[in-house]
Amino acid sequence: MTQAATTPGTADAGRPAPAPAGTPAAGESRGWWRDAVIYQVYPRSFADANGDGMGDLPGIRARLPHLRDLGVDAVWLSPFYASPQADAGYDVADYRAVDPMFGTLLDADALIREAHALGLRIIVDLVPNHSSDQHEWFQRALREGPGSPLRDRYHFRPGNGADGELPPNDWESIFGGPAWTRTANPDGTPGEWYLHLFAPEQPDFNWESPAVADEFRSILRFWLDMGVDGFRVDVAHGLVKAAGLPDLGAHDQLKLLGNDVMPFFDQDGVHEIYRAWRRILDEYPGQRVLVAEAWTPTVQRTANYVRPDEMHQAFNFQYLGTYWDADALRRVIDESLDAMRPVDAPTTWVLSNHDVTRHATRFANPPGGTQLREPGDRALGLRRARAATLLMLALPGSAYLYQGEELGLPDVTDLPDEVRQDPSYFRASGQDGFRDGCRVPIPWSGTAAPYGFGPAEGGPSWLPQPAEWAGLSVAAQTGDPDSTLELYRSALAVRRQHPALGAGDAVEWLETPPGVLAFRRDDFLCTVNTTAEPVEFAVDGALLLGSAGEQQPGLLAPDSTSWWAV
Ligand code: NOJ
Repeated sequence: MTQAATTPGTADAGRPAPAPAGTPAAGESRGWWRDAVIYQVYPRSFADANGDGMGDLPGIRARLPHLRDLGVDAVWLSPFYASPQADAGYDVADYRAVDPMFGTLLDADALIREAHALGLRIIVDLVPNHSSDQHEWFQRALREGPGSPLRDRYHFRPGNGADGELPPNDWESIFGGPAWTRTANPDGTPGEWYLHLFAPEQPDFNWESPAVADEFRSILRFWLDMGVDGFRVDVAHGLVKAAGLPDLGAHDQLKLLGNDVMPFFDQDGVHEIYRAWRRILDEYPGQRVLVAEAWTPTVQRTANYVRPDEMHQAFNFQYLGTYWDADALRRVIDESLDAMRPVDAPTTWVLSNHDVTRHATRFANPPGGTQLREPGDRALGLRRARAATLLMLALPGSAYLYQGEELGLPDVTDLPDEVRQDPSYFRASGQDGFRDGCRVPIPWSGTAAPYGFGPAEGGPSWLPQPAEWAGLSVAAQTGDPDSTLELYRSALAVRRQHPALGAGDAVEWLETPPGVLAFRRDDFLCTVNTTAEPVEFAVDGALLLGSAGEQQPGLLAPDSTSWWAV
């Protein structure tokens, strides 16, 4: 048997409608987010209702039934705010406005309401580390020149060197090059420098400024009043910089990220900000949540962001960065669960997002990080991706899916330079750079591009889709029991119905041959074979769901995960 012992299409059975304006629904007193499956929509690339080649809010709204039928609990939307799009919307010019390319505030309102009516929660992205350089505050700060009170809201500094021609310190941008750009004074002479940890079009806010803190508390309330169920907090580890902005004293600073505490990341002062935010969220009914995008050196430091009076969840990037390797996976799973247990926060699991090469392509290649240029062995990658997903969904806690992974989409590794838009692709030595490959608009139906992404056959899409995506569309996969889409639907339905799955803080590992993992959660057993060979492993139980098609009794198929009732 291939996949399900359950019926696809029953995924929404028993789904409690979110209660944004009321008390938690029955069974939710411990928090809906503790075991939620949260689906990331990248608005540019999800669905384009008006046919301009760019996804939009009405497009998302029209496709919400797909997400309900998939069986997810919540949707996280990457930024759709007013933005010049220097970093695909992570450069916000107005935090309370929808960019016209995505729609209007009325569209956002309709989307939130309709999602709630379908039993889906909505989490929006909040970008508090930096604004766009077109933000009114930054523009006024530039216009008014040195001494303007608006300059206190960002990090403006005179340069070093005889004429201030050198940056104020040695910090490097995540996207490559110095983290400082020099301004011109209102009279045209060279002026102060400003800090931007990302692109020059993304000046960092100064969180020591009370005006910045006030503004973000107000922005939180604006979207909470709109009815959103939570916020994914961008660069949550970056808001507070070490006092005096000290030199790091090293080059190639990106290589240190993730290992060392940097003067611009994971400073202890950030936690006070999130405590204040938590108090605001707790004033609202319906269990609104904060989710940290926090890159820290260890899972233990990540746990600091989800202490009981701070955020609810943090992304588990250590898990995302782990290759398809049994020992490494077991290690990171144990470390993650152990780190979250003392703070009583759910562990989260994630395999793909809009910043990394999709896991179907990462696992098609030898281990090599999260920005890959090679398609690798596609069949192998898909086999492992399906298995990795079933492993992830069997683990205790909450899981994040990235749009298109339910279709088994690979990265598009051969995009021509002239269509690429990732700002870090164009800056030498940046951390990212190949992110366009996971941002290609997803296929919904039909045999010709844009495969239902936009309304008209032959219509535009902001990044070109490969011809073979016709066979990967939602329509093409629906009803095919061997398809990745049906595997996801079945997995989410089993997960929703099985009492042993979802929330929890531990697994019981069984002894296994090399390359194999097996763990129990009550009467549920998950087996994982990460090797390229079938492995003998007898299970005394009934197969609930498997990633690999027919199974021979007593053998685990190569690169497969199976769920068993034991
Ligand atoms: C993290 C976001 O996920 C990424 O897309 C963005 O470029 C940076 N933060 C800067 O906002």
